[in-house]
Amino acid sequence: MLKKIIAGNWKQNGTLKSSISLTKKVLQAVKKEKYTHEIIIIPPSIFLLPVKDLIHKSQIKLGAQNVSAFDDGAYTGEISGSMLKDSGVDYCLVGHSERRHLLNEDESAFSSKVSRLIDNDITVIYCFGETLNDYKNKKTKIIIKRQLKKLFLNNENNLKKHSSKLILAYEPVWAIGTGLVPTPEELVSIFKYIRDTVNNLDKKYASIKLLYGGSVTPDNASSLMDTEHIDGLLIGGASLIAKKFIDICSTIWDKYTMQTALLTIHIILAVILVVLVLVQQGKGADAGAAFGSGASSTVFGARGNATFLNKLTTIVALSFFVTSLSLAYISSNKSQTSKSLINETVKEEIVDDQEKFDKP
Ligand code: 13P
Repeated sequence: MLKKIIAGNWKQNGTLKSSISLTKKVLQAVKKEKYTHEIIIIPPSIFLLPVKDLIHKSQIKLGAQNVSAFDDGAYTGEISGSMLKDSGVDYCLVGHSERRHLLNEDESAFSSKVSRLIDNDITVIYCFGETLNDYKNKKTKIIIKRQLKKLFLNNENNLKKHSSKLILAYEPVWAIGTGLVPTPEELVSIFKYIRDTVNNLDKKYASIKLLYGGSVTPDNASSLMDTEHIDGLLIGGASLIAKKFIDICSTIWDKYTMQTALLTIHIILAVILVVLVLVQQGKGADAGAAFGSGASSTVFGARGNATFLNKLTTIVALSFFVTSLSLAYISSNKSQTSKSLINETVKEEIVDDQEKFDKP
């Protein structure tokens, strides 16, 4: 099963003390729960090093929120890709809507930043998504396609060679910090569209992971992750509260671990069942020998052996039935939680004033 990604973008929040405390709490949970997904903490640049000192021996990865568009040189106030690498940064955001809309960064700046990061072996988390106006005018897919095409065309050579160094994060601007999320139907359609658009550009891009960001909470994280093609979440506000961030990691981990374990048991039971049926039909003499049928017939006698095989088959068949039911229950539960998200997403609540959403 694909490794899921949970990334926490702290934006311009916190103090040194609060950042250390938050990191320690997440670290404690990660050590205790032994999550298998990729957990990325993205603190303000000034706290990168103290956070790195705490997480460097753990599975938590460090992300930066920004990088200079230039290599080292006379660029006062900027931090270069090589400086980030030197500080242990594995991931860096590019194209976040707050940088697009509040700091007026454009595609050409993003393109230089993508190059600087790839040159320094740092994975780019490229954010994109439509504004409320685009959404209301049903231009979501047009905007997404335009943003993605610019990214891939401007960085064609680099990305074709290093597609594993790119993660895409769809963050609708109207969903960031507003408590609103797209409906499950919208998400299914948009993520299929993103996947198809990216794959159609070049087949090398088929393994690029896709994240969703915008008002992710412990309550909606599991439903969001159930959407086909969503490989992870980029979390803002909820990543600043240790309990919420840990709850999101745990919900997803519990669900996928249980699903994987059940599926593995289910497959093993299916194989055993087939072998048992073959053995009993007399078609699987070799398999029977492998199971030690000679030894068991000495102990149980020929009839005892047959009874034992019958009993074993019944037990395996019943267990197979139970795992089938459990897997069916989990997938039906998936669509139920997805449905409940529709009810929570009251479209009329979308405030008309786009400026409100663009404020930090
Ligand atoms: P919120 O989770 O606060 O909506 O922020 C999302 C985001 O911008 C992550 O980069």
